[in-house]
Amino acid sequence: MANLITRTTNNLMDWVNARAPGMMPVYRKHMTEYYAPKNFNFWYYFGVLALVALVNQILTGIFLTMHFKPAADEAFASVEYIMRDVEWGWLIRYMHSTGASLFFIVVYLHMFRGLMYGSYQKPRELVWILGMLIYLVLMAEAFMGYVLPWGQMSFWGAKVIISLFGAIPVIGTGLTEWIMGDYLPGDATLGRFFALHVIALPLVLLLLVVLHIGALHEVGSNNPDGVEIKKGPKGNRWDPEKPADGIPFHPYYTVHDLVAVGFFLILAAFIIFFAPAFGGWFLEHDNFVEANRLVTPEHIKPVWYYTPYYAMLRVIPHKLSGVIVMFSAIAVLFLVPWLDRAKVKSYRYRGLLSKVMLGILAICFLWLGKIGAGPGTDPVETIIGRVLTFLYFAFFISMPLWTKIDKTKPVPERVTMHE
Ligand code: HEM
Repeated sequence: MANLITRTTNNLMDWVNARAPGMMPVYRKHMTEYYAPKNFNFWYYFGVLALVALVNQILTGIFLTMHFKPAADEAFASVEYIMRDVEWGWLIRYMHSTGASLFFIVVYLHMFRGLMYGSYQKPRELVWILGMLIYLVLMAEAFMGYVLPWGQMSFWGAKVIISLFGAIPVIGTGLTEWIMGDYLPGDATLGRFFALHVIALPLVLLLLVVLHIGALHEVGSNNPDGVEIKKGPKGNRWDPEKPADGIPFHPYYTVHDLVAVGFFLILAAFIIFFAPAFGGWFLEHDNFVEANRLVTPEHIKPVWYYTPYYAMLRVIPHKLSGVIVMFSAIAVLFLVPWLDRAKVKSYRYRGLLSKVMLGILAICFLWLGKIGAGPGTDPVETIIGRVLTFLYFAFFISMPLWTKIDKTKPVPERVTMHE
């Protein structure tokens, strides 16, 4: 049996090769002859998991689109219909809505890994920039997706976020109406968000992901030691010309990553089956109530993955300043490759100062996330939010300084395997 499968696969590959000889070299370049550092650790699972999350969103999204009705007077009921009457509809819907939050968890951990190991430094600036573009598009994609079920938080969240553009002098009001296609979120808004959410942005996302991985494979992966394996000794058991510290991505890392994918899917299944709304963090309680333009929810707040930025917006009393600070908080991440002046990549070989600074950034981000998810009525919390916003920006603005003065440890010549 195994013999028959191997023979059939080989025959099929020969058949394709004879007709499209350019395809095999692409496969080899990115899979069997892509030499990845042999010291990847836990943190290197999240790129592959982000791919899994992306595929899940696309597949479940296709099935939701079959039953969803993109009209203001039908959308909410069509989602209820999916949840109650469509066979396995509840599962598809929760795989998509809970999947969105899992996607962001994975992407945030993936970004944090990049910060920890200096993966944005030369020659991987482009990989980082493309990653940041993915992050931007992903946020727009998730925002529009959340509007579609036309619950209370869909409507009011859309209203608050789109109205932010109204703070822009001169063109603000016109721009807000142009985006909504109305004076309030309505049928026109839902229709265009649907088109952007199901086709336009997913296409952009897919293209960016291909470019992201393509750019990475041009320069090669970084690793927890921040050592460039291409500059190290040559010759491994597969190829005398390739880095001694590299192993073929396929089959070694494909099999290795399958273990993480298995764990991830089990964890995802637990959340989807037992806590799909995750206590209101992944799907807010208010979104189980149909949109009503005459009733404002008690607390309007976005889903957790936006709350750090939303907190910054809310703790700043002046609206336009708040909007500028919020967008700058994302924009500043694009500049990290040029703000970091450290001679070594990985935080493993940086001094205490760098580690403390990165710790402060992580705490600020999480704490702001908590404040942004709260009611925003506590004056003490507002003061804390301002301090955290200040510290968040201080991390980046003073980065050229602290990365330069911080002591570094000698970086080994070759990758280490102590973890
Ligand atoms: C849909 C979202 C994303 C997908 C599917 C994705 C996928 C991947 C994959 C498969 C890798 C190679 C495996 C690995 O190193 O983990 C990778 C590497 C990388 N990604 Fe992403 N990524 C995404 C978002 C991002 C974002 C938002 C950033 C940061 C702004 C980012 C920055 C990086 C960097 C710097 C590397 C190189 C890491 C290294 O070599 O150490 N990615 N990505």
